[in-house]
Amino acid sequence: MRLAKGLVLALSLALYAAAAHAQSAGEWASSAKLWRDTCGYCHDGKLAPELRGAGVSAQAIVSAVRHGPNAMPTFAPSEISDQELEQLAEWIQAQPKPVPPPPGESERTVRHGTRQRTR
Ligand code: HEC
Repeated sequence: MRLAKGLVLALSLALYAAAAHAQSAGEWASSAKLWRDTCGYCHDGKLAPELRGAGVSAQAIVSAVRHGPNAMPTFAPSEISDQELEQLAEWIQAQPKPVPPPPGESERTVRHGTRQRTR
């Protein structure tokens, strides 16, 4: 399972690198779009922890986006401006926790905070 998950993440990272970064700093119409087009690609609770409704601090969000923990790609100010990042962090914190999938659909991998931290 661990191996399969690592493979999925590696593949997703490669696909992501090809598909993303179409937008530049200052061009994001909204935090919701920024989330949907970038963060949500991985942070849907499968490849990376769900952040919405997870109580992650704005500081942790800014730091993750600029410095990238573990396998997370970083985003430069030319891709997401400081102001956009600040708004995004506020937006993420204001979001309710998404409704979990029906029982049986591997809830364990979806819930935030249940995975082992390496930091
Ligand atoms: C290509 C996949 C990918 C994208 C896109 C991505 N992340 Fe991540 N993110 C990760 C991975 C992988 C981790 C590390 C998870 C771990 O090992 O704990 C991570 C970790 C984080 C963390 C730390 C989570 C925690 O609970 O400690 C935050 C905050 C975060 N990302 C925010 C963002 C934001 C905001 C965006 C959008 C601008 C974003 N990420 C885009 C893959 C991604």
